[in-house]
Amino acid sequence: MKNKILVTGGTGYIGSHTSVELIKEGFDVVIIDNLYNSEAEIIDRIHKITGVKPVLEVFDLCDQEKLDIFFKKYNDISAIIHFAAYKAVGESVNKPLEYYRNNLLSLVNVLDAMKRFGVSDLVFSSSCTVYGQPEKLPVTEDAPLQPATSPYGNTKQIGEAIIRDTTVSDKNIKAVSLRYFNPIGAHPSALIGELPRGVPENLVPYITQTAYGLRDELKVFGNDYDTPDGSCIRDYLHVVDLAKAHVVAVKRLIGRRNKTNYEVFNLGTGKGVSVLEAIKSFERVSGIKLKYKITGRRAGDIEKIWADPSFANKELAWKTLSSLDEAMKTAWDWEKNIRNKKG
Ligand code: WQD
Repeated sequence: MKNKILVTGGTGYIGSHTSVELIKEGFDVVIIDNLYNSEAEIIDRIHKITGVKPVLEVFDLCDQEKLDIFFKKYNDISAIIHFAAYKAVGESVNKPLEYYRNNLLSLVNVLDAMKRFGVSDLVFSSSCTVYGQPEKLPVTEDAPLQPATSPYGNTKQIGEAIIRDTTVSDKNIKAVSLRYFNPIGAHPSALIGELPRGVPENLVPYITQTAYGLRDELKVFGNDYDTPDGSCIRDYLHVVDLAKAHVVAVKRLIGRRNKTNYEVFNLGTGKGVSVLEAIKSFERVSGIKLKYKITGRRAGDIEKIWADPSFANKELAWKTLSSLDEAMKTAWDWEKNIRNKKG
């Protein structure tokens, strides 16, 4: 009998890659998505990659009635991976109430439904943004959380606290928060990947769109930071490596191998890479000289962060396998593939 996993936000960037890895590991996948920032067609692409078409239920998790109907229909959910959230840092500054309502109410509804329908295991999509600018690098899970620099980041901090408090009040609920560093790249099939709507906020899709000619040039937001080449440093990990960590986390909970009812893991390579180094990586793998210019700093950016992934390496027996160049190459292949498709 296959374990059935509910993946909320499963047609999104990380959610679709995780659905592929879950299916490859023999899980049944049911996706809930409101398609606010993704397309139903992703299901067909997951089908093409895996040979299995996951079920897609389209509704908004903020609608508790619809969520109850869902759990009455699917009374065999083994665990939930909760991706569904708005995630644009800049947008969240302009639309805080939309972000707090969507990201927090959907999470509260999922937890409430878990209690009422007897689902005990939750994996939560969190982010290294909860650390702000860490005092000490590389950053470990016990590093102090800094005040969030955006409503988006705050919804991740508050979301973790809501989950933690729920696991304290209800011993039946077991949860894992996965703090992502910077996911990049796409599935090697180039059938799924990052599909930013409008002008990309994130570095790598902006690089690939510039290289493809959709953007005039990349703006490098500052080279006057206290880093070797002056540009910001991040920990870029391949999205497929990240997806695999979710499968391991689900298995840990279902297999009752969790050590406490609420666990947190940093998911990164453990290596810091600057913006200028990321550009060089793209140029190496694409053979294209990227057009960019140095501009002023972007408000809200932290200077440097990279993970100490040793806790996940040990407890989850998980580590990143792809190099920066390999990840960057899949990002470029994906960009070319979707543009060719769209003609
Ligand atoms: C990376 C670096 C920029 C664009 C955010 C969220 C995080 C996650 C990923 C959702 C920074 C520089 C970027 C550009 C640039 N989001 N940059 N020119 O800000 O580290 O993380 O996105 O899950 O939670 O906090 O990622 O890709 O926006 O920026 O110079 O056009 O690239 O200054 O140093 P970030 P990013």
